[in-house]
Amino acid sequence: MTLRGLVLSGGRGTRLRPITHTGAKQLVPVANKPVLFYGLEALVAAGITEIGIVVGDTESEIRAAVGDGSRFGARVTYVPQPDPLGLAHAVRIARDFLAGDPFVMYLGDNFIPGGISDVVDEFRRDRPDALILLKRMPQPERFGVAVLEGGRVRRLLEKPRQPPSDLVLVGVYLFQPTIMEAVDAIRPSARGELEITDAIQWQVDHGRTVVPHVIEGPWIDTGKMDDLLECNRVVLDRLDEQRLGTVDPGSRLFGKVILEAGAEVRGSTLRGPCIIGERSRVIDAYVGPFTSLYHDVVVEGSEIEHAIVLEHTVIRGVRKIEDSLIGRHVVIERGTTLPQAHRLMLGDHSRVELP
Ligand code: G1P
Repeated sequence: MTLRGLVLSGGRGTRLRPITHTGAKQLVPVANKPVLFYGLEALVAAGITEIGIVVGDTESEIRAAVGDGSRFGARVTYVPQPDPLGLAHAVRIARDFLAGDPFVMYLGDNFIPGGISDVVDEFRRDRPDALILLKRMPQPERFGVAVLEGGRVRRLLEKPRQPPSDLVLVGVYLFQPTIMEAVDAIRPSARGELEITDAIQWQVDHGRTVVPHVIEGPWIDTGKMDDLLECNRVVLDRLDEQRLGTVDPGSRLFGKVILEAGAEVRGSTLRGPCIIGERSRVIDAYVGPFTSLYHDVVVEGSEIEHAIVLEHTVIRGVRKIEDSLIGRHVVIERGTTLPQAHRLMLGDHSRVELP
């Protein structure tokens, strides 16, 4: 059975603003690799190489990052979605690409460290109309929620105010082509989107086999800062040490520290797991656990921990940054002029917490 992959990489990413004012949420790096790449790798690892990526406003950026997919061992087709009208709408417009084959729909900001090969195998073997992944989560009202009865899917609700269970829909769905009938039949939800949750409910109501698969391992929807930092923590914890950069004798490195090519550490203390990206410089500084500095970052005379810093950012003379996601080309430095004050120039929807 040929399975295709449909990766959703549109959407506005409002929960990650201001980062997403200037970039796609699916390209925010986790342990210095865009989160979308982990999804593509998981599909390929499960034997899925014909992959369609649904793109919106950030199409050119996604295209530039992923290309034709050959470096992932995949063949990628781009499916433009002019407006983010919902996940079921994305399936509708991908009809030609899907070509009547069964497929895995994968939301590009979702991350499953354990991959999806086991559920893909289960789907290939049992051939249900739909196989959905569920996970028990706190705050289920942030997600689609499922109610099971005797091990079968009874009801699915999209972000219910009063969740009837703590089983939430993970953003990975496996479908037979019969899903097309459902996505054509449903109407837009209260938030004006064609919800995949409603399409699956339609299948349940029309006697199709919708199989739940509750996952025990970690799953992270990286669409919010705290979740993204948590994802970064999980991935850094699993990486192997690598030392491609240079370290001077005045520096001390503890635990798993990954230095990418051209990274430079001088007079600093690094406590892993952490990753210092290509050409990034850490000078007279402290970089603590669960920190990712992407490429061309400078951290000097500063302390930082449990944070993601994007490319070309400079942090100088600042103690101490924690639990933070910092964008590209940002400058954070200690002022030298009096009066001592916080002088800020922040983009729309920025968030600053001062001691
Ligand atoms: C979407 C789905 C939701 C699911 C979630 C998983 O929500 O609508 O049912 O639980 O993905 O990431 P969204 O992130 O688009 O709000």
